[in-house]
Order: sequence, then structure tokens, then C-alpha cells
Amino acid sequence: MPASRADVVDQELADYISAHSTMPDAVQRQLMTATEERTGGASRMQIGGDQGTFFEIFASSIGARNAIEIGTFTGYSALSLARGIGPTGRLICCDVSEEWTAIAREHWQLAGVADRIDLRIAPALETIAALPAGTQFDLAFIDADKTNYASYFEALLPLMRTGAVILVDNTLWSRRVLDPKEQDADTAALGAFNKLVAADARVRCVIIPMGDGVTLIQKL
Ligand SMILES: C[S@@+](CC[C@H](N)C(=O)[O-])C[C@H]1O[C@@H](n2cnc3c(N)ncnc32)[C@H](O)[C@@H]1O
Repeated sequence: MPASRADVVDQELADYISAHSTMPDAVQRQLMTATEERTGGASRMQIGGDQGTFFEIFASSIGARNAIEIGTFTGYSALSLARGIGPTGRLICCDVSEEWTAIAREHWQLAGVADRIDLRIAPALETIAALPAGTQFDLAFIDADKTNYASYFEALLPLMRTGAVILVDNTLWSRRVLDPKEQDADTAALGAFNKLVAADARVRCVIIPMGDGVTLIQKL
């Protein structure tokens, strides 16, 4: 099983990157296998191992304590974020699937991070709207339905402290954002999202060609 996904760079380079990055540990490998065996074709939605390592390093290096994830699936990215925020951190996870997040819960227990994760099963925009006044996040990760990315960004930005970062997955969409002939709803939404964020004076942003494209958006 590849520890890195080659959606944007070629497979040879992706393999080289994996071979020279910290590899997934036993629980992470177990979660990759469980996702493949128990979710069928949906396992492609899981982030790559290199992305998980990046998220963990990033969360810990910015000293993030309060974080939120939109789109949890079987919990690989959440596990990385939860490790990065450390035992005193809190991560709210938003998803609509009881079935997929049951796999996440099992592996968060195994990894010893379950007590720092608060999983909310509901459409993420409802979960965000129900957060108490004064909620402030240091870090967010958006990885759910692509047509709502702009709505997630708008809903989260007021809840981010100045200097906080929103990470966003799949922003290069297997390079389809480059092709004007690709007009399906997800590609159009991601293309529009990338334009919107790049032009937004409230933030600075950069797209990293890792996995399927990861955007870092920092609130100014
Ligand atoms: C790409 S997967 C997330 C992958 C995950 N970050 C990982 O590392 O494995 C997208 C997830 O978004 C969830 N989702 C889709 N629509 C949603 C919504 N409106 N609110 C919350 N979650 C949603 C899906 O159930 C799915 O689990």
C-alpha cells in the first residue's frame, strides 16, 4: 500500500518522497488496511501517509491546541491532527457517516487519542453554526464535499484566531482544475474556491503539490 498518493506528482517521485519521509506507524498502517478492507472503493478518500506526517508536524510546530476537521471518514487525518495538538489539545471532527467514523473511533482508541477528539455526526455547516459564541480555532482542515468548500471557508474564517491556518485538501483535483473542459460540479467548485481564496484580502495562501493538492490559508 503506498504511503504517498501520486495525484499531482508522478508515481516515481511520490515513491521517493515516501521513502525519505517518516513512515506510518503500526496503528496508522492498521487503519489504512481497515479502510481498504471495510470501505471498498471509498478508501481512495483517505489522505496519504506523507500528508498525515505533514499535518502532525504542522499542528505541533504551530502549537495548535483547538482544531476542527470537516470530513473525517475513517479518521486518518484526524489521528494525525490529534497527535499534533498533543494531549491537552481538542479536535472537533465533523462527518455525516456513522459507519465510516466507527472505524475512526476504533483506531483513535488504539492510538490513545480518543479522549482529545469530539466527533459530531451532522452536516458540518450545522455543527459549525451550533458552536458556542467565542469559539476560536488555531487550526482547521477541510476535506468534505467539494461543492461546499467555499461555504466551509466562510463559516470557519470568523472562528479562526489571527494567524491561524485552514488546511484544505484536493485543491488540485488530480490536475483537473487546469482543464477548462472539465465542467463537473466538483471541479468547477474547486476552481472557483481556489480563485476566491487567492483574491481574499483577509488571508494569505499557498497551494502545496502534495497528495491531491493541499492549500494552506492563514488568517491575517
Ligand atoms: C474525503 S473524505 C475525508 C477523508 C479524511 N479526511 C481522511 O483522512 O481519511 C470526505 C468525508 O466527508 C464527509 N462528508 C460529506 N459531506 C459532508 C457534510 N455535509 N458534512 C460533514 N461531512 C461530510 C463524508 O462522509 C466523508 O467521510
